[in-house]
Amino acid sequence: MADQFDYDVIVIGSGPGGYVAAIRAAQLGLKTACAESRETLGGTCLNVGCIPSKALLHASEYFEAAAGGTFAKLGIKVKPELDLPTMQGQRVDAVKGLTGGIEFLFKKNKIDWLKGHATFVDAHTVEVAGEKKSAKNIIIATGSSVTPLPGVDVDNSKGVIVDSTGALELDKVPGHMVVIGGGVIGLELGSVWRRLGAKVTVVEYLDQILPGMDGDVRKEANKIFRKQGIEFKLSTKVTGASVNGKTATLTLEPAAGGPAETIEADVVLVSIGRRPNTDGLGLDKIGLELNKRGQIETDHEFGTKVPGVWAIGDVIPGPMLAHKAEDEGIAVAENIAGLTGIVNHDVIPSVVYTMPEIAGVGLTEEAAKEKGAIKVGKFPMLANSRAKTNHEPDGFVKVIADAESDKVLGVWIIASVAGTMIAQVAQAMEFGASSEDIAYTCHAHPTHNEAIKEAAMAVTGKPIHI
Ligand code: FAD
Ligand code: NAI
Repeated sequence: MADQFDYDVIVIGSGPGGYVAAIRAAQLGLKTACAESRETLGGTCLNVGCIPSKALLHASEYFEAAAGGTFAKLGIKVKPELDLPTMQGQRVDAVKGLTGGIEFLFKKNKIDWLKGHATFVDAHTVEVAGEKKSAKNIIIATGSSVTPLPGVDVDNSKGVIVDSTGALELDKVPGHMVVIGGGVIGLELGSVWRRLGAKVTVVEYLDQILPGMDGDVRKEANKIFRKQGIEFKLSTKVTGASVNGKTATLTLEPAAGGPAETIEADVVLVSIGRRPNTDGLGLDKIGLELNKRGQIETDHEFGTKVPGVWAIGDVIPGPMLAHKAEDEGIAVAENIAGLTGIVNHDVIPSVVYTMPEIAGVGLTEEAAKEKGAIKVGKFPMLANSRAKTNHEPDGFVKVIADAESDKVLGVWIIASVAGTMIAQVAQAMEFGASSEDIAYTCHAHPTHNEAIKEAAMAVTGKPIHI
């Protein structure tokens, strides 16, 4: 196939979408290259996203447990001392190990890494570092980057107004960190620095944090984070910022209008969302237009309007999540190879890795109600024996099922290990499970997952432990 072209497939971008697509294509016998302009493979996720944030979340969680939280309740007396350089060092090591691992997998699968920024010359050719390379199929997996906030200029090198990348690399615990945006990044990274000693204030434009999540979950999460010491300024917008030495002054106004106030911070984290990376890709050369949100539209098989050009991951519509990008990477490679690659976008779990974790899959209660009659079962983690024994009483499981068919439409969980628990629900939903199917599945005892069984039993009003 590759005879008239250099490759069967060129992937642009080596994030979880791109590197997975490249590996799957190579596994299927396609001659494959991947263009990446970063110095290391793995994209946002491995370099400055999922992995480094989880390295700090994990470490700071232990620090807080030792510093007076859970350890004391368990009868373990310690006086922890923060060694931030070592904590940051293990973050860097985690990133190095995993990005190096992708390089190893590329070599193992004979995937050429085209080092540099790729630009389309035509629909079958890209230019990377001055060299033209052609392929029968080109997959755009260029991901996303931070949405800027006008008037609040990020400068990670100064470490005062930062984005998520800067917030991962702070060399000192800020006295006061102001987070703009009460979404996933703000709550995860805000939690890291609060646990290590910072006072954290979250300024959110909407009247509640975590937009897109189930209403009950958003309310309960807000309550839990407030109890942990995070201050929230909801329905508030930031209208300006100035930096004086090592201090930033932000001007805040009520979202609906009203008198302004100012607030000072040692570090301001701008986390108001991410936008697709398409600048400098040369999409005009191939006649590919973006939608109103700056995304590339695709069909069900991840093909764009231009034959031979495909797109996956954060650059196309849908949740900006690594596992969604990975699954699309596998599917697009399979479609290119003539197989049938499908992603069920109705069952993409999402997890916020705070403590407790917050996870959901499928419809929120609000969205499900709009579609028809539903039944809802809820079970508190306080009544789950394992969570109670582990001193993890916060949260609940909520199962939303169709009132008539009993098919599970969505599940929402706040629990210490919600991110792990949600997998069983996603699998059940993939198999079209009813709440009764989950309720009559034997769950090991004592596990947090028993709360899912009980919430499913609560859909028909018969949980055992409440
Ligand atoms: P990306 O990972 O963004 O990769 C795209 C790559 O393409 C980049 O390396 C870029 O350099 C390269 N590139 C772009 N244009 C070109 C070009 N023209 N030529 C060559 N190379 C190019 N998601 C989760 O599911 N779980 C998490 O816990 C999680 N945590 C996150 C934490 C943070 C702080 C952030 C910022 C994000 C997090 N995400 C998380 C989101 C996740 O990182 C993204 O959804 C995921 O990385 C998207 O994958 P992708 O392959 O589409 O793009
Ligand atoms: P987000 O979309 O999750 O949250 C942004 C928040 O900022 C929203 O609550 C929004 O209402 C608010 N906002 C927007 N403009 C504002 C303004 N001017 N002033 C105040 N608030 C404003 O975006 P975030 O947190 O930046 O994350 C980006 C993406 O990265 C998300 O889509 C998420 O999916 C992904 N991500 C996923 C993680 C995970 O899966 N655990 C972790 C971190 C990021």
